[in-house]
Amino acid sequence: MILITGASGKTGIAIMRALREKNIPVRAFINKPQYQTAVISAGASEVIIGNITNKQHITEALNKIDAIYHICPNMHPQEYQIGKNIISACESAGCRYFYYHSVYHPQIRKMPHHWQKMRVEALLFESKLQFTVFQPTAYMQNIAAYWAQIEQGKFIVPYPVETRISLIDLEDLAQAVAQVLSQNTHQYAIYELVGTEPISQIEIAAELSSQLGYKVAAESIPHGTWKLSAQKYGLSDYAINTLLSMFNYYQNYGLKGNPSVLTYLLHRKPTGLVEYINKLIFSLRKQER
Ligand SMILES: NC(=O)c1ccc[n+]([C@@H]2O[C@H](COP(=O)([O-])OP(=O)(O)OC[C@H]3O[C@@H](n4cnc5c(N)ncnc54)[C@H](OP(=O)(O)O)[C@@H]3O)[C@@H](O)[C@H]2O)c1
Repeated sequence: MILITGASGKTGIAIMRALREKNIPVRAFINKPQYQTAVISAGASEVIIGNITNKQHITEALNKIDAIYHICPNMHPQEYQIGKNIISACESAGCRYFYYHSVYHPQIRKMPHHWQKMRVEALLFESKLQFTVFQPTAYMQNIAAYWAQIEQGKFIVPYPVETRISLIDLEDLAQAVAQVLSQNTHQYAIYELVGTEPISQIEIAAELSSQLGYKVAAESIPHGTWKLSAQKYGLSDYAINTLLSMFNYYQNYGLKGNPSVLTYLLHRKPTGLVEYINKLIFSLRKQER
């Protein structure tokens, strides 16, 4: 039985579905009872409700657990402390294996959520635990969040349209994770999970145009405009400032990676952008029917 934190988020759900394919039993850690149905239908055989910032809840969740897959909720201001508490709870509870959902290039201090993950990785190196670290780049699934605008012919991003970012299909990520968790040969490995060469936002818009059959233009919006809509949407100040730091970093340096490690873990070529866009269009049209 493996305990998965952040289980009700998009990453947790995708990973549980892939683990189900490998018959790996999962206990899902969620914060709200209304997420129960979703995690059970994604494959969780046990569910525990608690707050990830509460040490007692974590200790209870670790009862009779030998391995944990830790996913910190996105843009959490206490990400480092949460990681630290969970590592120490695992050591006390006798949970021997720690799979850590980190991020691509955690070494970047200019992106606070990357840097917090780097510091958690460093704690693992000094812990008594066996571990494997996954460092995924930005998900292709983030494109889906812009779908309403894409349908209006615009692919709007808060950095220059020339910015090049390597992406990964979350389903590939989940399959790679399930592959690793089903084998006993990945102790102390750190895997950079990248599905594509660095792609510009102009190229993404061009592929959207070509697959949708109408013009989608890449457009950059100022950070002030993005911030106003993020505030309206209810994002916390920490999340807004962290995301703005990330956009600044992307603007200056992009996020460039190489798909070789993912190819090695999947034993096949990772999903490309065109393939992902087609999958997305298919699933959205299916929902409309
Ligand atoms: N998105 C990307 O492109 C990307 C790329 C690489 C790495 N990552 C990393 O992947 C991780 C997961 O991202 P995600 O987008 O899958 O996350 P997510 O969708 O935000 O999921 C996190 C889940 O945890 C729950 N949660 C929030 N606060 C909690 C608490 N105090 N106790 C217990 N559960 C709590 C959330 O519930 P609520 O709905 O109640 O908030 C949500 O269901 C993040 O650490 C992120 O940095 C993301």
